Amino acid sequence: MSPVERGPGAREPGPEPVPPRPEVEGLTPYVAGMSAEELTRRTGRPAVKLASNENPLGPSPEAVRAAGQVLAGLHRYPAVLADDLREALARHHGVSPQQVLVTNGSDELLRLLAETYIRAGDRVVVPHPSFSVYSRVARLMGARVQQVPLNAGGAMDLPAMAAAAQGGDGVPPARVIFLCRPNNPTGGVFGAEDFARFVEAVPAGCLVVLDEAYKEFDDTPFNGPDWLDRCPGLVVARTFSKVYGLGGLRLGYGLAAEAVWRPVLAVRDPFSVNAVAQAAGLAALADREHVARSVELAREGRQFLTQLATELGLRAYPSQGNFVLIDVGRDAEAVHRALLEHGVIVRPGTSFGLPTCIRVTCGLPEENRRFAEALRAVLHQGDGA
Ligand SMILES: Cc1ncc(COP(=O)(O)O)c(C=O)c1O
Repeated sequence: MSPVERGPGAREPGPEPVPPRPEVEGLTPYVAGMSAEELTRRTGRPAVKLASNENPLGPSPEAVRAAGQVLAGLHRYPAVLADDLREALARHHGVSPQQVLVTNGSDELLRLLAETYIRAGDRVVVPHPSFSVYSRVARLMGARVQQVPLNAGGAMDLPAMAAAAQGGDGVPPARVIFLCRPNNPTGGVFGAEDFARFVEAVPAGCLVVLDEAYKEFDDTPFNGPDWLDRCPGLVVARTFSKVYGLGGLRLGYGLAAEAVWRPVLAVRDPFSVNAVAQAAGLAALADREHVARSVELAREGRQFLTQLATELGLRAYPSQGNFVLIDVGRDAEAVHRALLEHGVIVRPGTSFGLPTCIRVTCGLPEENRRFAEALRAVLHQGDGA
């Protein structure tokens, strides 16, 4: 039948858009901050980006070389389980290769865990404020997400999280708990004794996902993988996006008991980790000098940013990450916009529910100084007041 023959209001034949799953309807796309290139174009002067906790030194030159060497072989599919990198990571962490799963960024790892383990209606406990992906992947699976506020120091409140996981009074125990150490955006950490008490208190059948994306910058002796033997339901998430400076390649990994990975292997896409990422990751892992320089730079940056905040009479959260959360005591969005005018990009805390805070990544010394100058000028002008 031609459109002319059908009456007014009649619908076109053929497929129509269908609504997404109800769990998807409540989700919103990730909103990325402005890139340095965009701001440079806008202001006509080189911009400084201190907004995404990237490594200001860039990737290891060894990683760049290794990435280049695989380009001629790109007609071949990559190794399904990134065998060489998996073995190197196993050696690095003192675990077996079967305990390592290499993924397309740790974001993919978090989603895979949710897809494999979270059932519609399950309770999932997350810290707040923290990395938004935990709630997102849990909601995607139809979970009921319970947020547990951080303690006053900006670290996980482990006793409160364990209590939330236990449920009781008709509330079922949680299926998954996400922990972030050092926590994004505060940089806070918990101690080994608190964690020991926490693992004792977590109910059976609850997976504990410990995200250590920033672990390499942390000066405290706590190390998630050391707990794997004691905690068969523990997953440690790590990434190559931070200290290794490979965010653009999308490479992360998880460490857990082999039994945790068995069902995940059936869920994952076989070739999600590309050949360039595998080769670069292997070289980056071996370049310990680059890692050491990156860690040292972050330490100096933390000190500089914390001291700056103190001098300006602002609160800086104690951080073990490569970033510092500063409470500017006024509308952070306005401060963020004013800093853009000075060519500096930071992350306003609004999306974390922290409307008076900005999260500043530790940059190169000259980048930190540019930020300091800009912040002083913004506060002096009363911009964002
Ligand atoms: C706490 C935390 N976990 C995971 C990630 C994501 O890492 P990836 O780039 O490996 O997906 C980030 C990125 O900012 C993060 O802050």
